[in-house]
Amino acid sequence: MAEILGIGCSHAPMILNPPEEWTRMRERIMSRVPNYEPPPELMVDRGGDDWLSAHRENQGRLAKAFGVLHDRLHGFAPDVVMIIGDDQAENYQSDNLPVFALYTGSEVEAYPFHRPSARVNLWNGAPDTRYSFHCPSAFAVALRDHLILDGIDITSSTVLRGWKYGLPHAHINPMLFLDPDGKLPLLPLFVNCYGEEAGPGYPPRPTARRSYDLGRAIRRFLDTRDERFAVIASSSWSHSFLTHRFGGVKFDLEFDRRNLELLRQGRGSELARLTPEDIYLSGDHEFLNWIVALGILGDRPAEIVETLDAQSQISFKVFCLWD
Ligand SMILES: [Fe+2]
Repeated sequence: MAEILGIGCSHAPMILNPPEEWTRMRERIMSRVPNYEPPPELMVDRGGDDWLSAHRENQGRLAKAFGVLHDRLHGFAPDVVMIIGDDQAENYQSDNLPVFALYTGSEVEAYPFHRPSARVNLWNGAPDTRYSFHCPSAFAVALRDHLILDGIDITSSTVLRGWKYGLPHAHINPMLFLDPDGKLPLLPLFVNCYGEEAGPGYPPRPTARRSYDLGRAIRRFLDTRDERFAVIASSSWSHSFLTHRFGGVKFDLEFDRRNLELLRQGRGSELARLTPEDIYLSGDHEFLNWIVALGILGDRPAEIVETLDAQSQISFKVFCLWD
C-alpha cells in the first residue's frame, strides 16, 4: 500500500511577482469585471501606502508557507508527485477539452515567465527561461488503465500540444517553489475547472461528486502499489472575479472558512456534496482540484500551514499538509 503525503497550495499568477507588482496585478485582473466597484472590504489593509506594506507581509507569509511545504515534500522523498491543476484555456481549448486528463509522457517542460504579467518575477527570470521535469510514465499508464477499468473514463496525453509553453500556470507556478530543479518525478493531472466560463463553446466543469469519485478511484489504485506518493492540490479557493454571489467584486470568505473547518476536522468527504450552483456562486471553481485530492487522501485532518484572506489578494489562499 502506497504511503501518501498531501499538499495544498495556491497557483495564483501574483505568487510569481514581487509584492510591488501586486496592486497592478489586481487592478489588471479586476478590470475585466463589468461595472467593477471596489468593495469596502478591499480597503481594510490599504494602509498609507496603497497596500504595499500588506503585500510585503503577505508575500513573506506565502514564501514561508511554500518553504514549509517544500521541506516536507523533499523530506518525504516521494517516488511520484501528482499535481492537480486546471488548464485555463492554455493547452486544452474548446476544440479538445477533456473533463479530466492524465499526463502519461516521460518528460514535460514549462516557460512560466513568458506571460507579460510574469516579466517582473521573483527569480529575475527571462521570458524564455525553461523548466523541465521528468515524469513517471509507466506509473501513469498503469494508473490510467486502472481508472478506465474502474469506471472512470479518463483522457490521457503523452504531449501537450495546445500552446508552446508546456505546463499551464496551475501546474508550473507551485513547482517553482516546491521543486524548481525538477528532482522529483512529476505527474500532472488536469481538471476542467472553469467549464463554460473559459469561453464560448466550452463544456461544463465536472461536479464535485465526480471529482471526488476520481480521487477515490486513484486511491484504490494506490492501495495496490508500494510507491511513496505525494499529491499537490493546486489552486486558490474562492476567486473575486468568479464569485457570482457578489457580482465578481470580492471572494466568498465565509463559504471558504466553513470548508476550511471541514478540512481541519478531517471531513473533506462532505465537500463532495457541493452543488454546481454552490461552486458557481462562491467562485470556488478551482476548488475542484482540491476535491480530487480529498478523494485520494480520504478523511484525514489537514494541518493548516497558512491562510491569506485579505481581499487585496483577489483569492482566498490556503497552504496545508496532510501527512
Ligand atoms: Fe487558476
